[in-house]
Amino acid sequence: MYILAIETSCDDTGAAVFADGTLLSNVNAGQLIHSEWGGVVPELASRAHQATLQKVVAKALGEAKVAKDQLGLVAYTQGPGLLGSLLVGQSFAKGLAMALDVPLLGVNHMQAHVMAHFIEAPMPKYPFLCLTVSGGHTQIVVVRAADDMETIGETRDDAAGEAFDKCGKILGLPYPAGPIIDARAQLGDASKYKLPKPAMEGLDFSFSGLKTAFLYMVQKMDDATKTAETNNLCASLQRTIVNALLEKVALAAEQTGIRQIAIAGGVSANSGLRQALREMAIMKGWETYAPSMAYCTDNAAMVGIAAYYMAQKGQRGHLADVPFVRNRPL
Ligand code: KG4
Ligand code: ZN
Repeated sequence: MYILAIETSCDDTGAAVFADGTLLSNVNAGQLIHSEWGGVVPELASRAHQATLQKVVAKALGEAKVAKDQLGLVAYTQGPGLLGSLLVGQSFAKGLAMALDVPLLGVNHMQAHVMAHFIEAPMPKYPFLCLTVSGGHTQIVVVRAADDMETIGETRDDAAGEAFDKCGKILGLPYPAGPIIDARAQLGDASKYKLPKPAMEGLDFSFSGLKTAFLYMVQKMDDATKTAETNNLCASLQRTIVNALLEKVALAAEQTGIRQIAIAGGVSANSGLRQALREMAIMKGWETYAPSMAYCTDNAAMVGIAAYYMAQKGQRGHLADVPFVRNRPL
């Protein structure tokens, strides 16, 4: 069965085509327009999805050499995400499924990030722990099956990606600052500046205090010092965030006895996190999994693979079932 998957949860317009569980094409159009505003502007994001989605879908079908009428299932991101952006993808998917008279499946965005591990080998075996870290979420999930996931820890305030982006803004870096901080951190010395370790009991996270401490630290610097020290500041910030994430992952592994550890979501592209996870895995005897870079940040391939496994379990959406989608707090 050919599956068309559509992703429009935030500021990436994506379409992917699968032949059952095999990815045939994955097209993604990012929206550069947001960088000048220092963050995603929801209204601009929805408009850009509307302008681009049809072309992205046509390209994905063309690259896969699959005609529209060969599709057996249309899948789309149901949420969480920006309401206007989600509605563009949902309306498109709904219209197409209706025209082709094929089933329609709404996929949870966070579940799709986890399922990105099943697009290509090596794939984790169930059960595994997944640290899902993005611009909107930070979660530790026990993954028992494609349709059996339990969140055992999450952020009480800012997400990890948000901490990268907001601290980047303090340094005057464009949005999204995560990848820039990653690159600058590789040139800096993480030990030069000490930032407070985010403190939170149990498996939950908190990054808002770190953001405030970072702001106060940078505010004390004049512009020349700030510029000269950017690499060192990025290195300290990244190390603090990575340590906070992995400390909770280690606690979750201890509490659950699960030794297969996966990372997913935009922040899982971070080279410092990947390196620190590899080092911790050697110490703790874990098996670790990190998706290819293209499947870490938002993409439609992860939506398609999640839909494939949902369909395998016999889940079939109905046009009338499309539920109300909730906006995520900005
Ligand atoms: O999963 P994603 O594409 O979208 C959401 O669902 O939010 O994640 C985007 C987030 C942004 O905050 C971005 O700064 C962050 O992922 N990000 C990174 C890196 N690449 C993307 N953060 C740190 N290091 C990176 N290399
Ligand atoms: Zn995401």
